[in-house]
Amino acid sequence: MLQFYAEAGVVDLLEDDPVDRYADTIKQLEERKAKKAAQMDQMLSANKARANNIRPQGNGGQGNGGSASGQRANQPRPTPPSPSATTLAVPDQAAMEEARNLAKSANSIDELKTIISSFKGCNLCHSAKNTVFADGNPDAPIMLVGEAPGRDEDMHGIPFVGPSGQLLDKMLAAISLDRTSAYITNIIPWRPPGNRTPVAHEIELCRPFIERHIELVEPKLLVFMGNVSTSTLLNTNKGILSIRGKWDEYKIGETSVPAMPTLHPAYLLKNPAAKRNAWHDLLSIQAKLSELT
Ligand code: URA
Repeated sequence: MLQFYAEAGVVDLLEDDPVDRYADTIKQLEERKAKKAAQMDQMLSANKARANNIRPQGNGGQGNGGSASGQRANQPRPTPPSPSATTLAVPDQAAMEEARNLAKSANSIDELKTIISSFKGCNLCHSAKNTVFADGNPDAPIMLVGEAPGRDEDMHGIPFVGPSGQLLDKMLAAISLDRTSAYITNIIPWRPPGNRTPVAHEIELCRPFIERHIELVEPKLLVFMGNVSTSTLLNTNKGILSIRGKWDEYKIGETSVPAMPTLHPAYLLKNPAAKRNAWHDLLSIQAKLSELT
């Protein structure tokens, strides 16, 4: 049976039964909210009780006889709300805001890498083994952006090292590039469980990081591989098959650089007939690169 699954392309066996992790995280978030509310109530009633005991009694001085400090010592200490950063999280506005502020605060590629590696606001980072930041030469004129790490990338902490990475290396070699003359990253730095496509809120949460990443690298030319990368960075909902091979512009601050949407190597592995189109795009990228450098 395992062999059958392996041949059918199943690479991860997670559970006997399917688990809706999105529902799980929502449930956890609700539980956490309820716990926080209960802790807040407890704290408020403890404070109220303490205030009543400290306040001079309005009964002609016939208090209960205990000193205020003695009363305070006897009060049960309210439990402070527990830190939530290490638990699973469905990104909310606060997490989005945090991602935006953190990304803005990065003044170098290394700083950005450190910031992303310690960011806990994205649900994906909790199931991933590694943060997959980038590979290649950040001083190269060309920057390629994929979707999200797969199993091999998650294991090694390096983008595009699995089967689609091997194809990408061959594609780069075909136009005389390699990882010393190109820089490679992804929209999402953590592997989505089971290699599923990242969902909209995960993409939006990671958007400030990739946008800042591009700003800091300042490439001369961008290549967006696949639908997720293209739709996110060109803000379009046109399908990759309709816009691949057509030069667009990506704004970096006041300037803009040429950006080419092209097919993702994983797509090419499943649809070898599309390699013809990819080759066309590669030649166009090579020509633009020699114009620009
Ligand atoms: N697919 C991607 O989009 N990125 C990787 O790093 C690996 C596979």
